[in-house]
Amino acid sequence: MWFWNKKHTIAASGILQGAADHHSHILPGVDDGVETMEESLHILGTYEELGIKELWLTPHIMEDIPNTPEKLKARFVQLQATYNGNITLHLAAEYMIDNHLRKLLPNHSPSYVRGASNTVAEGDRTIIPLETNNSPSLPRGTTRGSVVCDDGYFSTQKECPIGATKGEGVETNSLLPIGNSGKHILVETSYFNPPMRFKETLRQIKSLGYYPLLAHPERYMYMDNDEYRRLREEGVKFQLNLASLAGGYGKAVKKKALWLLENGFYSVAGSDLQCEDAIEYITSCKLDEKSLMNVAQLLKNRI
Ligand SMILES: [Fe+2]
Repeated sequence: MWFWNKKHTIAASGILQGAADHHSHILPGVDDGVETMEESLHILGTYEELGIKELWLTPHIMEDIPNTPEKLKARFVQLQATYNGNITLHLAAEYMIDNHLRKLLPNHSPSYVRGASNTVAEGDRTIIPLETNNSPSLPRGTTRGSVVCDDGYFSTQKECPIGATKGEGVETNSLLPIGNSGKHILVETSYFNPPMRFKETLRQIKSLGYYPLLAHPERYMYMDNDEYRRLREEGVKFQLNLASLAGGYGKAVKKKALWLLENGFYSVAGSDLQCEDAIEYITSCKLDEKSLMNVAQLLKNRI
């Protein structure tokens, strides 16, 4: 029998055993998070003691911090070579929805187009054949092999649509997706105002074959419950920031987080960790048993 009003800390509840943290700034020296390899290794040691088994490193990519996948991958390789523990490390990124991201999206490299025939794909998507389209006026930002969608957006999505052929010549991806399926892009916005072309950018991400995974939705002051519902209906997924439940961003944010949690909006959870001190803050957060059960499920979830 559950006594929903009884409260426990996240640490004492045991819900971190086997958990996956889907949001962190622990990759050292690449953004406003952890600065040194030594600090990263120390945090990973603490994570091991807590029982965390999977960690997604999600450095910022935005106009002010224009990290490239190549730079981040090189730093990730260094961390992996230095770390000898039992936590599985993954590299992704947290993309601010801004002009920098919009410039990246149309250039996302296709993995299936080379070798595709003169195919017209199913439904509302049309592939511009890589080898045969000689039109000098491809849609702005597209390359041969792009997919043009009925809403005017175009895609060079990773997966081979029905009717297209997955061929040789896989090119380097310009995005760093999050999740084991490789089908999610972690995005954030300003906390105060919606970004320009917000919905359009979300649709563009979807047209590439990804689900937008919205980081810490509870922190966006301009979003209300109806907006969360609309975003969910449009295929956006949500990621809980554990520090929000601890009250780290104020009572209003905590209230929104609890509402989103109770109503099943979140798919996964993350720490958004930027320094070691935050671990104690998050793990000492007290929650009632119903909330702990919901958070436990998010920490188990893999996407
Ligand atoms: Fe973050």
